[in-house]
Amino acid sequence: MTINDFKTSLEESFSKRDTEIFLRAIKEDLLNDAFLSSNDELSETQQRILEDSVIALKTGTPIAYVTGWVHFYTLKLQVDQTVLIPRSETEELVDLILKENPALKEGSKILDVGTGSGCIALALNKHLPHCRMVACEKSEAAIDKAQKNSDRLNLKVEFECIDFLASASELDTPWDVIVSNPPYIEPIEKERMDPHVIMHEPHLALFTPENNGLVFYQAICDYALENLKPHGIVYLELNEFRSKEIESVFSSTGKFETVVYDDLRAKPRMLKATLI
Ligand SMILES: C[S@@+](CC[C@H](N)C(=O)[O-])C[C@H]1O[C@@H](n2cnc3c(N)ncnc32)[C@H](O)[C@@H]1O
Repeated sequence: MTINDFKTSLEESFSKRDTEIFLRAIKEDLLNDAFLSSNDELSETQQRILEDSVIALKTGTPIAYVTGWVHFYTLKLQVDQTVLIPRSETEELVDLILKENPALKEGSKILDVGTGSGCIALALNKHLPHCRMVACEKSEAAIDKAQKNSDRLNLKVEFECIDFLASASELDTPWDVIVSNPPYIEPIEKERMDPHVIMHEPHLALFTPENNGLVFYQAICDYALENLKPHGIVYLELNEFRSKEIESVFSSTGKFETVVYDDLRAKPRMLKATLI
């Protein structure tokens, strides 16, 4: 069998463009041979890998979980089903932070709340290596993945396995910047979601503990009031449907100056709240 045989099978379920993307990722990350030609006869091992991958893709497994790799803001990160697949909107949040803070001083302290694969913290650490980067996360499996990503990339992030809603006071403060892409989907919204996301991605990463989609935003706001340095900044990824309410959590304290930014799809996706 050849790659072309698998291509035909994938094209029964996916567009030509997606098929190309999948095959390129499988060749590069699972067969470790980006230059394998479409007509080359495959070994038995290669055939088995492709067969398993095609079945996984056809049953809705995201390509990042099939290959175990994802590109995120100049980094290549390992992912599995214990961590959320980093999204392009989150790369935009990282980009915003880097563009707005080119002159963070040596030793400035940054906290990432709910780090998952470590994507935000690792990207910031790569581009702001003189800052102290701490990342917290409730899931032990996610922390393990994030730490492995950090070690493989020779980055230096301090990971803390804590429940931010219960034990944020254990973190070493104060902070210059707090960043988070927190869980914000209410469990009640499950029925309206893409079943593939619900089936494959970790529920701890998607859903708030109760039917209160603002719980993490409120907790981060309360925490930031006590634990940010003067003029410190909070950057948050937003639930695009509740950007006004989230902004109001911060602005209604009278202690923050807030700006909401649209993402590249023109959705209100990022909040910057600066302590006045
Ligand atoms: C939306 S995901 C974001 C993951 C990653 N930062 C990203 O942008 O891809 C939210 C993360 O928060 C973590 N989390 C959920 N509840 C938490 C809690 N109480 N304390 C700390 N982390 C929590 C989840 O395990 C998940 O990794």
